[in-house]
Amino acid sequence: MRLLKVEPWGTAKLYLLSSAIWFVVGTTLGGIDATHLIAPELLGNIPFLVFSRLRPMHTNTVIFGFIGTSLMGAGFYLIPVMARTTLYSERLGKLSLWVWNLSILTGNILLGLGYSQSREYAEWVWPVDIGILTAFALIFANYLGTTLRRKEKMLYVSTWYLFAALVFTWCFYFFGNAVWNPRTGSLVGLADANLAWFYGHGIIGLFMTPLAVAVAYYVVPIVCRTPLYSHSLSMIGFWSVLVLYSHIGAHHIIQTPIPTWLKVVAITGSLSMFLPVATVVINLWLTMRGRLGILHANLAGKFVFAGLVWYALTCIAGPLQSLPSVQRVTHLNNFVIAHAHLGVLGFSGSIGLAGIWLIIPRIAGRPIYQRRLVDIQHWFLIFGLTAFHLILSTAGLVQGNSWLNGEAIYRTLPMTHIYMVLRLFAGLFIIAAAYTGLYALLRTMYWPGSIKEGSP
Ligand code: HEM
Ligand code: HEM
Repeated sequence: MRLLKVEPWGTAKLYLLSSAIWFVVGTTLGGIDATHLIAPELLGNIPFLVFSRLRPMHTNTVIFGFIGTSLMGAGFYLIPVMARTTLYSERLGKLSLWVWNLSILTGNILLGLGYSQSREYAEWVWPVDIGILTAFALIFANYLGTTLRRKEKMLYVSTWYLFAALVFTWCFYFFGNAVWNPRTGSLVGLADANLAWFYGHGIIGLFMTPLAVAVAYYVVPIVCRTPLYSHSLSMIGFWSVLVLYSHIGAHHIIQTPIPTWLKVVAITGSLSMFLPVATVVINLWLTMRGRLGILHANLAGKFVFAGLVWYALTCIAGPLQSLPSVQRVTHLNNFVIAHAHLGVLGFSGSIGLAGIWLIIPRIAGRPIYQRRLVDIQHWFLIFGLTAFHLILSTAGLVQGNSWLNGEAIYRTLPMTHIYMVLRLFAGLFIIAAAYTGLYALLRTMYWPGSIKEGSP
């Protein structure tokens, strides 16, 4: 039972550490993917490393391993602190972590061996799904046990978001993965495409988004040392995101023969997303207004600020990308990949990192080992992701316009080659950010040596 040894904040600490490790693994896999798109023959035909297997290994590792683990790990700190009590059970917390990590590892190894459900972001086969669902249930039980014995009467908005993310994700993970259909995990035809995007979109809007918003709502007031601008606004945002995000997944398949009413719901819902997004961004902006200096002097504050800027940008582009006229140029090409990285890494990933850098010094009881390293991580990320996004958006527009002009896909490939090379170059900065962060984290937690600079 050494693996489940009890120590104060042990669960949060191990979740955050695991996330930093998955960040390294996930971005490295992304780098290999990007290399494939430049030189498909370079890695030979090693089955474990073919693009079609590596791509889902990359996406699942970054989404669940890096982002999910960091944000839910932050929840293991936030929930007890907001409830003014201790975690319900550190042992249960560690059990959930092992189930979670082993599921991610097993899912990826099986993907490498060719076992896949072939559904985007739901590629892991059903035994892994059972592990993931079990982990969600264990995490939920622990959050709930903690909240039920709280000494603080008010439930701060971050608590609402953390619970909503777990409850919604459990349900749509089960249905979206068609867990009751273990052989293939899928239905047939358009019904399946719909279900698959109900799920895929849920992963974006009801797993990563509420978790990231929960952490942002905690970090900004704490770092700025001021109360949240408006609790009412935060509640309007909370309920509207649940109402809207839950049924707009069909905007991923607007170009297919799904019923027109479904397209209308998806498009109007996407445009209405302005409301929940604006409530978060405006509320946090008004909280940090006049205190940007304090926010940027803090490492977690810097990451959360970048995350919110990227959130706003992603959510200005997203609704436009749901319009059929825009999709004529942007659909199924690198424009979507650019948007995906801006949202997933820029918004949720940055806020996951903010969680790590806020919580680790508090748990470890000492400042971060060499603050400069985390500053470097921050700038690597800003430069790498901005370049990554601009390069892929341009590549997408080149592809989309060529296709619109009747050019065959194979003839557009040479045009995009240079963008693929530049993307790998930009991606190397993101990979470097992951390695730098892991090093700084390990030094802070286990080998602090002499810490030269002040607190975060
Ligand atoms: C934590 C950081 C990262 C996150 C969260 C992330 C996330 C994603 C997501 C969500 C997709 C699927 C996009 C879609 O289908 O629309 C994707 C695909 C991809 N990513 Fe990343 N990524 C990260 C880092 C990287 C890095 C550093 C590289 C390259 C050096 C990279 C290269 C790729 C490639 C090549 C694809 C496949 C694109 C395609 O199919 O054309 N990613 N990534
Ligand atoms: C107002 C909010 C948003 C709207 C309306 C929106 C809309 C869209 C649309 C219409 C697409 C499909 C584009 C196409 O296939 O042509 C898309 C793709 C995507 N979006 Fe968003 N988006 C929003 C915010 C976000 C955020 C915050 C994230 C990340 C946390 C995100 C992550 C993604 C990903 C990963 C994909 C690629 C899915 C795939 O094809 O593999 N989006 N989005």
